[in-house]
Amino acid sequence: MERNRSRQAFEEACRHIPGGVNSPVRAFRSVGGVPVFVEKAEGSRLWDIDGNEYIDCIGSWGPMILGHASPLLTGPIQSLAQAGISYGLPTTGETQMAALIGRAYPCAELVRMVNSGTEATMSAIRAARGYTGRDKILKFEGCYHGHSDCLLVKAGSGALTFGTPTSPGVPSDVVKNTLVARYNDLASVRALFEANPGQIACVILEPIAGNMGLVPGKAEFLAGLRQICDAEGALLIFDEVISGFRSAWGGAAQVYGVTPDMVCFGKIIGAGMPVGAYGGRRKIMEMVSPAGPVYQAGTLAGNPLAMGLGLTLLGHLGAHPEVYQSLEEKGRYLAEGLRAIVGTRPWYVAQSGSLLTLFFAPGPVECYEDAAKSDTELFARWHRRMLEAGVLLAPSQFECIFLSQAHTKADLDAILNAAESALKGE
Ligand SMILES: Cc1ncc(COP(=O)(O)O)c(C=O)c1O
Repeated sequence: MERNRSRQAFEEACRHIPGGVNSPVRAFRSVGGVPVFVEKAEGSRLWDIDGNEYIDCIGSWGPMILGHASPLLTGPIQSLAQAGISYGLPTTGETQMAALIGRAYPCAELVRMVNSGTEATMSAIRAARGYTGRDKILKFEGCYHGHSDCLLVKAGSGALTFGTPTSPGVPSDVVKNTLVARYNDLASVRALFEANPGQIACVILEPIAGNMGLVPGKAEFLAGLRQICDAEGALLIFDEVISGFRSAWGGAAQVYGVTPDMVCFGKIIGAGMPVGAYGGRRKIMEMVSPAGPVYQAGTLAGNPLAMGLGLTLLGHLGAHPEVYQSLEEKGRYLAEGLRAIVGTRPWYVAQSGSLLTLFFAPGPVECYEDAAKSDTELFARWHRRMLEAGVLLAPSQFECIFLSQAHTKADLDAILNAAESALKGE
């Protein structure tokens, strides 16, 4: 497969953009080789600028749940744009979006639009701190909530540590109030509450984690977090940037029947436009400016194109619950096929609805420590061979396969055939 144009484009990009990309994972550093520079995408397919065609399993990291360039969304773009691209003033679309999110997530009595998932989680935490009057927050090792300072924390060693910044540029002072527990481990959460009585404002997590590879929260873990938060007067925040409107219309909260106090969204609510939102119980959200004293703002927040496309997509998903059934069937089919290929090898296939990860580590993978046992060299070889066979996987072991409505059974069989050859002899 020729990729000369992509190579040249990357070299040129590196002269103008740090590392040649605008988000690190796109640089393909953990798998090697040349990043895919995209020419266009349609349905389940994506073409690079060398003319190579791929079955896309990234789907813009989630929002392309109907596949790329769905006519449902490309149709209204022009008329939306003709009415103006941005006003920085209120529109009724923003209210409709907030009301729609409130229908899908009854806990989201008030909703504020922002421009990214990063902003959503950062702002939700500010509101939670303002509401509770507490400074400390509790997150989980392996959960990613965007790149704001206080959330850019990886656990040190073990589950019960205070945060240390993952990145230079984040002062340790800023993360001294970030506590890190082990995912799917209630004892690690209880221990942190015991050590910090009356000080923890909120527990934030991906209820279906997608940023250490796919690691679904266990039902008893999520229910236990709800109980602990209630008992301790802390808020429970679900980061549903990946799982929202994907795992079900009401996201992981609906799948597990656990109601958070606050919820955060990203890309999917704008159908792939740059957008995010956070919402929660009225009393909490009334802390947010100008209703209350917690400041948070955004010139482009609630952009009319993003609202228009998002309302169309989410409205469609709400009116067609069979989409979720079919995504679940596709996810299971691919997972079962992959498990058959894995056979007795010490690897693990995780699947939840339309999300999957093949871990090159023994299962079950229930937390970051388990995921981190993966053979990432083997993942890199697999990734390169799959790409060569025309299957575009997320370029890291610690990401998911995102399936869409546009993936056909023939696509899934093609992915499985490619996987079987790519893993032969490993
Ligand atoms: C669960 C989760 N939260 C937050 C974010 C940050 O979103 P964004 O990249 O839009 O800032 C991401 C990004 O992938 C995510 O997966």
